[in-house]
This record gives sequence, C-alpha cells and structure tokens, in this order.
Amino acid sequence: MRLEVRQLSFSYTDQQILRNLSFSVEDGEFVSILGPSGCGKSTLLNVLAGILQPLGGEILIDGEEKKEISGSFAYMPQNDLLLPWKTILDNVCLYGEIHHRKAQMKEQARAQMARFGLQGCENKYPGELSGGMRQRAAFLRTTLCEAGIYLLDEPFGALDVITRGDMQDWLANLSSSLKKTILLVTHDTDEAIYLSDRILILGAPGEGIREEIRITEKNRTREWLYGQGEMRLKIHRIIKEKQRNGNEKEE
Ligand SMILES: Nc1ncnc2c1ncn2[C@@H]1O[C@H](COP(=O)(O)OP(=O)(O)O)[C@@H](O)[C@H]1O
Ligand SMILES: [Mg+2]
Repeated sequence: MRLEVRQLSFSYTDQQILRNLSFSVEDGEFVSILGPSGCGKSTLLNVLAGILQPLGGEILIDGEEKKEISGSFAYMPQNDLLLPWKTILDNVCLYGEIHHRKAQMKEQARAQMARFGLQGCENKYPGELSGGMRQRAAFLRTTLCEAGIYLLDEPFGALDVITRGDMQDWLANLSSSLKKTILLVTHDTDEAIYLSDRILILGAPGEGIREEIRITEKNRTREWLYGQGEMRLKIHRIIKEKQRNGNEKEE
C-alpha cells in the first residue's frame, strides 16, 4: 500500500508541530523518520493513525483520502499500551479478538513467541514482564495485524543493545519477505541506516523535512553498517545544523 501525506499541519494549543508536511512512502518501501527528541515524530504518527486530528492537509492510502481511523495501518505507539488485565497471549491477539479470528491468531502468536523472546510468557500479565519484553509483545501484536502499512514508533527503544540488534535483523528480514510498507520513527541514526530504503530527517517542530537520504545497498550486514561513517557524519551534521538554527526548546 502506498501512503501519501499532503500539506499536513497539526498544532497543540501552544505550539505548531507540523506545518504543511508532505511526503510519501511507496508500496513495500521502508522509510525512517529520523529526528531529535521533541521534533514531532510521535505526533506525526498519532495524526496518521487518526488519534490526533490534523489542522489541515490530506492523508491518502493508495490514492484515496483517509477520513477516519483506518484498518490499513498497524500502529505501534511509543508506549506499548498492553492491557494490564489481559495475559500476554490475549494482549498479542487483541486485534484477532476484534476481527473474530482469535483462534487462528493464537496459533500464529504461539508459533512466534520464541522468536520474540517471549516463550513461557503466554499466560503471564504485562506487569510481570520487563520493559523490553512488554515492548516485544507489543511488537508481536503489531506484526500479527493484517494491515498494509506499519507505523512503528521507536519499537526498539526500550530494548538492550543485543536484543535490539536481533530485532532489527528480524525486522529487516520481515520487511523484505512480506513487502510491507513501513514508516519507522527513530532517533537512532544507525538503526535508520541499517533498515531503511529512505531516511527523512525532520527539523525542529514546524520546520518539516530537512533532508531525504536514499540508501540503495541491497546486502546489509553489521560490517556494512559499521563502514558507513560518512553517511553517519552527514546525518549528524544535518541534525546539529537544525539545533543551531532552529527552535532551541528542549523536551
Ligand atoms: N499532548 C501534548 N500537548 C502539548 N504539547 C505536546 C503534547 N505532546 C507532545 N507535545 C510537544 O510536542 C512536541 C513534539 O512531541 P513528540 O511528537 O512527542 O516528539 P518526538 O516523538 O519527536 O520526541 C514536543 O515539544 C512536546 O513537548
Ligand atoms: Mg516520540
């Protein structure tokens, strides 16, 4: 599915966060939104997911304007939002419950538990798990959705470095085999370089997209990533430049 955002604007009462923002994500493309904390990344995903109402602009899916909360999006918010009174298995299968295919989804979920480091956790409650495990459960729930476009808000932020690397590899595999359209929000430059077809670097709130970087390497390994010093430096400079010229506000 193709996502297109046209002239999107959004304000909280005291601050304009998005101003005439336009970009698109092609069918099957992996795009990362990279930017410093507080620049409006989570706000953008909330507007796309329909949780926040834009001031203006259009969101198009395969060329059609999206008006309401759309089943085309699988949204993984920055905070995992697992329901504390449901077991991990029930949390993970929440969308199956909504769409009346819970039994089938439970089977799929059980098969994926080990891969997400959640084996033996089926009948535990979110409060009994570490932050990283909860994040992985929320991620598993998102991937079990049959939506065409994934909106992922710092899905690996709460994980330890080793698990994060494993999950990035896993997502890289998943995205190349399933051909999903993915919009990933991150403040981790290496993560964006490793996973994306394209990186959009956001400026200060209201500033919009500062630069777009396309990455064409097909055969990505950790060694390849560690050799990307020049790209990393370029991105670092763009982000720094923004902080110097832009809004100095700290989160
Ligand atoms: N509910 C809210 N009301 C008012 N301001 C908010 C609200 N949520 C976020 N903000 C502000 O909007 C800006 C962007 O926030 P956010 O989208 O969470 O940034 P990011 O995800 O890039 O770190 C920040 O300055 C933040 O303080
Ligand atoms: Mg955020």
